[in-house]
Amino acid sequence: MDRLFSTIALFLLGLLVLFSSVSSFPNAKTHYHDFVVQATKVKRLCKTHNSITVNGQFPGPTLEVNNGDTLVIHVINKARYNVTIHWHGVRQMTTAWADGPEFITQCPIRPGGSYTYRFTISGQEGTLWWHAHSSWLRATVYGAIIIHPKEGSSYPFPKPKRDSVIALGEWWDANPIDVIREATRTGATPNVSDAYTINGQPGDLYNCSSKDTVIVPVDSGETNLIRVINAALNQQLFFTIANHKLTVVGADASYVKPFTTSVLMLGPGQTTDVLVKADQPPARYYIAARAYASAQGAPFDNTTTTAILEYKTAPCTAKCTTSKPIMPRLPAYNDTTTATAFTTSFRSPRKVFVPTEIDENLFITAGLGINQCPPKTRARNCQGPNGTRFTASMNNVSFVLPSNFSLLQAHHQGVRGVFTTDFPAKPPVKFDYTGNVSRSLWQPTPGTKVYRLKYGSRVQIVLQGTNIFTAENHPIHLHGYDFYILAEGFGNFNPKTDSAKFNLVDPPLRNTVSLPVKGWAVIRFVADNPGVWIMHCHLDVHIGWGLATVFLVDNGVGPLQQLEQPPPDLPVC
Ligand code: C2O
Repeated sequence: MDRLFSTIALFLLGLLVLFSSVSSFPNAKTHYHDFVVQATKVKRLCKTHNSITVNGQFPGPTLEVNNGDTLVIHVINKARYNVTIHWHGVRQMTTAWADGPEFITQCPIRPGGSYTYRFTISGQEGTLWWHAHSSWLRATVYGAIIIHPKEGSSYPFPKPKRDSVIALGEWWDANPIDVIREATRTGATPNVSDAYTINGQPGDLYNCSSKDTVIVPVDSGETNLIRVINAALNQQLFFTIANHKLTVVGADASYVKPFTTSVLMLGPGQTTDVLVKADQPPARYYIAARAYASAQGAPFDNTTTTAILEYKTAPCTAKCTTSKPIMPRLPAYNDTTTATAFTTSFRSPRKVFVPTEIDENLFITAGLGINQCPPKTRARNCQGPNGTRFTASMNNVSFVLPSNFSLLQAHHQGVRGVFTTDFPAKPPVKFDYTGNVSRSLWQPTPGTKVYRLKYGSRVQIVLQGTNIFTAENHPIHLHGYDFYILAEGFGNFNPKTDSAKFNLVDPPLRNTVSLPVKGWAVIRFVADNPGVWIMHCHLDVHIGWGLATVFLVDNGVGPLQQLEQPPPDLPVC
């Protein structure tokens, strides 16, 4: 009897799956996953920590799908922290409710609560990733999203033999939540990390780490695809493999015109897909990553994480313990020339359609700030430079997350008083952004201000770094969109001379741009995805300080231009 029931149930389920896939396009699949967020014992650098993970795995599970597939992920929070999961780079067309940033598109999933994220991957191929978007939980709550070509189609390059993910992470020999809480209390910069990691492992240059060093196997002559993700919290990273050329074929789940390099630079949030040909004498070669630290004088973690590219014909035997793999040369920590040579090498594979008429021309400064402490504040709460507190802003607005509603819910239900729509289209005061900035301009105004965009508007944003307190490279990430990067440069953006440098033919399509230190970058996109979308620096230390803003994109008129209704289990505050 039981069996009969389950057969009928299976049959009905099959029909359902068949119908739902037929409705999108043939062969598209729906993938169901449970993500249990929980504390798990993780041993690194000689000590065991109670880390927050997904399903007890660190890094968390890899999601492997085809372009066109749907994901249904039931997140159950068994940890003692609020949590949300963000699907970094997934466009979430009309499904903003599934985007994930805490207090932007949903309230957090409380301890004991759950939420089901449902979304479809459409028009994106390559590598993305998922991560917690709540406090500093993403230090240990992240994983890869591999998007294969649409069922029945192929890569725009010969099919690689093997496919491996290299997720670069950042490890504290402490509870990362305590690290950020401490910094929020003191107003100073949080402690720098103790290690970088490759797929969760620091590698054998660190104490107690050699036996767990990640091995990437290769066979002589084969060409493999390596998907590199920068999942570090606060650090841009250089990445290289000893003696091997890296052919870049994709970034942020868009293909690029292939180019060859010996070193990559990824800001947190960015992904880069490379082809690596095993054309060297069979041996063991280090895969290595370490900081690209562009801020002068600022403390950073200067350690090096490694994995090992191991030729199958040269496996590690007893003598391996004495002979080390071949070590690559990495650029100097402050090698902005190498970083720039890399970021400016990206092109789309062919001519693309870039909007040339612009409806919204925004100029947005991005940088740090310093808050004076009001009289009578305790000294221990003002441990920034000269008794101040660190802050950060875009166009002088230091972004403050709401706490009683998510912005999307407030927008959808017309709740007043949660946000205002007066984020300025240009800085309130014009100044020499990358010069010696007057102290009177160092303190921004806090606010929950959004910028409203009509459906379909063609948007250009000039992102301008500032030299307030200290200049540095910022990985600026926009949710809900991919954008074209038209140009980047150093100094103050000059519309007269710099517009001539715009690549309107084959600019790269990305979701995170490395805003050069003391420089600018220009991006364009069409606001064709209704919802509420945060744009922020992907250095977590800067998000907390307010280096963010939000775009509210109105619904269009057509049925595929409307934000869907909120799911019934959407967490509310
Ligand atoms: Cu990976 Cu708000 O981002």
